Amino acid sequence: MGSFTLATVPVATEDPLYRLMREYREDSHEKKIDLGIGAYRDEDGKPWVLPVVKRAEDLLRENPQSNHEYLPIRGLDTFLSAAQRLMLGIESKAICDNRVCSFQTVSGTGAVHLGATFISRFHSGNVQPTVFISDPTWPNHHQIFTQTGFVVEKYPYYSATSKGLNVEDMLQCLRTAPRGSTVILQGCAHNPTGIDPSQEEWKRITEVVREREHFPFFDCAYQGFASGDLEQDAWACRYFIEQGFECCIAQSFAKNLGLYGERVGAFHFICAPGSDASELAERIGSQLAIMQRAEISNPPAYGAQIASAVLNDNELFSQWQSELKIMSGRLTGIRQEIKSQLEVRGTPGNWGFLSTQVGMFSYTGLSRRQILELKEKWHIYMTENGRISVAGLNPGNLQYFIDAVDDVLRALP
Ligand code: LMR
Repeated sequence: MGSFTLATVPVATEDPLYRLMREYREDSHEKKIDLGIGAYRDEDGKPWVLPVVKRAEDLLRENPQSNHEYLPIRGLDTFLSAAQRLMLGIESKAICDNRVCSFQTVSGTGAVHLGATFISRFHSGNVQPTVFISDPTWPNHHQIFTQTGFVVEKYPYYSATSKGLNVEDMLQCLRTAPRGSTVILQGCAHNPTGIDPSQEEWKRITEVVREREHFPFFDCAYQGFASGDLEQDAWACRYFIEQGFECCIAQSFAKNLGLYGERVGAFHFICAPGSDASELAERIGSQLAIMQRAEISNPPAYGAQIASAVLNDNELFSQWQSELKIMSGRLTGIRQEIKSQLEVRGTPGNWGFLSTQVGMFSYTGLSRRQILELKEKWHIYMTENGRISVAGLNPGNLQYFIDAVDDVLRALP
C-alpha cells in the first residue's frame, strides 16, 4: 500500500480557463470561435509572431556567442535593467537611487508568486497577511495568494449597473481594510473588465492606500495594450512610485511581445526613498535569490534574450512600438465594430461600454445561461464571467458572432 491513496488525494477541479481551451480544441464545428484565453490573434484568427521578435531571433541565431548556458539566479542583466526602465521610466529616481530590486521570473504569474511568497514570509506582525484583490479579477490571483498563506479578500471594482468602475465602493472598502493589507492593483487594461481608473481616480486610490498604510502590489501584464503607448500605460505605477510609496510590480512580456509560451517576466520591488533604501533593496534581493533558487533555480533564457534584444536596440524598439499599435489598434477597431453592428441590429442592451473598455478583454455582462447557450448552440467559447478576448474576433467571424449574440439575447433575455 502506498503513502498516497484515493482517500487522501481528492480530485481537484480543472482550471476553468484551461478547461475551456480543451473544450474548444475538442469541438469540431467549423464555425467555432475561441474568445477564451487572453492571447492576441491576427485578422485571420492566427497567433501573431511579432516581426520584431523574428528579427531578434535571427540576431540571436547569427550571434556566435549565443549558447544555452544557465542564467544567474536573478536572470539576464541586460533584460532586467531594460525591463526596469520600461516600467519605471528612463529617468526614474528610484532606479538612480539604487532602491529597485529586480528578478526575472516565469512570466507575470511567476512574478506575482515570487512577490506573494516574499510578502507572506516577511510582512510585519504575527497575524496571517491579508490581500485585497478586485472583484472581479484574474482568477489566478485568488489561487496564488491562497496557496502562499494569505487571507484573500475582495474589493468592489465593477459596477454591473454602470458597466464601469465602482470607485466609491472600492475606496470605502480599502478604507475599512485592515491597516497594512496588500492591495493588488492592475496597472492598465484590467483583466477581466477592460476598465481602468482615470488618473484622478488613481490619485484618490493613492490617498487611501497611504492613509491605511497598505502595500500596493501592481500586476502589469498588458503594458502597451490599453492605449497602444508603453509610457502612458505605465502611468499608474510610476505615479505611486513618484509619490514615495514602497511597492512591487509583476511585469509580463507575454502579451506585449507575444512571447506567451516563453514565459518572460520580471518582479520589481521598489523601496521607499530613505537613507537605508538601497541597503534594504539589496537585502530583499538576497532573500528573493534564495526563494528563486529553491523554486526554479534560475529563469529560462531564450525569451529573455529575445526581449533584451528588442528593448536594448533603438531600431528594434521603435519597430516594437509600431507593432504594439497594430495590435491595440486592431482590438479598438473590433470593439467599435461589435458595438455598431449590435446597435444597427437593435440587439437588446446598451453597448456603449464596448468602446470605453480597453485592452485585450471586454466584459459583456452576459448571464451564465446566455454564455452556456452561446457555447452549446453556437460553439462560441468565452469565460464564465462573460469576458471575451476581443482578439478572437476578426472580419471572417464577426458576423457569425453578432448573429449568435443577437439570437441568444432575444431568446434568453
Ligand atoms: C488570461 O486571463 O486569459 C490570461 O492571463 C492567461 C492566463 O494564464 O490566465
